[in-house]
Amino acid sequence: MLRTQVGIVGCGPAGLMLSHLLHLAGIESIIIENRSREYCENRIRAGLIEQWVIDLLKDTGVGERMQREAMFHSGIHLNFSGGLHYLNFKDLVGRSVAIYGQQEIVKDLIGHRLADGGQILFEVSDTSVHDIDGKAPKIRFKHDGAAQEIACDFIGGCDGFHGVCRPAIPEGVLTTYDREYPFGWLGILSESPPPDDELIYSYHDRGFALYTMRSASLARLYFQCAPDEDIEKWPDARIWEELHKRLGGVRKLQEGKVLQKGVTPMRSFVTEPMQHGRLFLAGDSAHIVPPTGAKGMNLAFADVRMLSRAVAEYYKTGRTEKLDGYSQAVLPRIWKGQRFSWWMTSLLHHFPNENAFDRRRQIAELDYLTSSRAAATTLAENYSGLPIDECG
Ligand code: DHB
Repeated sequence: MLRTQVGIVGCGPAGLMLSHLLHLAGIESIIIENRSREYCENRIRAGLIEQWVIDLLKDTGVGERMQREAMFHSGIHLNFSGGLHYLNFKDLVGRSVAIYGQQEIVKDLIGHRLADGGQILFEVSDTSVHDIDGKAPKIRFKHDGAAQEIACDFIGGCDGFHGVCRPAIPEGVLTTYDREYPFGWLGILSESPPPDDELIYSYHDRGFALYTMRSASLARLYFQCAPDEDIEKWPDARIWEELHKRLGGVRKLQEGKVLQKGVTPMRSFVTEPMQHGRLFLAGDSAHIVPPTGAKGMNLAFADVRMLSRAVAEYYKTGRTEKLDGYSQAVLPRIWKGQRFSWWMTSLLHHFPNENAFDRRRQIAELDYLTSSRAAATTLAENYSGLPIDECG
């Protein structure tokens, strides 16, 4: 039997950052993960980090490669009605965002955890959590073919939307809130320069498209599609044709070798509370946002920042107020992230049941955003990340 202070299920950004922050507070943890290290380090997700996350990575000693390789942006472009409009976040709110792939953060955090003596068990199976109501919760799983158990004081449920932790909470404890969107995103990673140094969010009659990047020679391109779109029906040439059309000629789009492609469904989801007994949910196991605005990982980091502080207070003083208040402390920020992601999605996408009024209203809103400093400021402060200390 293994023994640690905090057993963490899931080696994504939430689990890794939780383990890292606990380590800095002198608290031991073990992470278990059903995928391989290679899978975790190559899983492509959004790659946009808010200003406070840039600072968090730097301040906690895991930001050196990010500082070298990230692309620091000052704002975004909105493309509508045949023209490109730039919103300068630096000018509007004095802060901005960086593009640094989620899988790069995962690589950096895994590297640091292992170098710092952290324990991560990859490729486990049959994971389950037990005795979360008592003072001695346990995680059971199989590793290298043998049954294993971790006895711990607390469990961090960082195992994503489809994980085992949330369903382990007894029926009747959680209330969930959700919305499914009637569309998805088809995304590609292409060996070609992005059409601009900064992101282009494109509102178009054929549907939304986003032109982002991973480096100066690697474009990450998405467009709105059906939620159950069959990727087999999208040979590369057809994808490029659609991306050209939705960019509308405002920039030149260079084609390249398509390295990856896939369809992302879109949903909003929140569970309240995010804890039961000694099990604490963080990141996607507790909440999902649609990708527009790329808030997912940023919200996960805000959760584990708070959770690590609550756990640290417990070990230092024996007090449980912060642990007891974890959900209440993080949910206001999560709901603001939900609101913003829903709003940006609603602003830019075609909805199947909309009419000409709705299209005119969307254009009026884009026009307002790009002509009113007040309107642009609300986008800028949410996009670049609401102040972390005020909202948890
Ligand atoms: C990216 C994804 C997003 O959803 C977004 O709003 C911005 C950037 C990205 O993958 O780079």
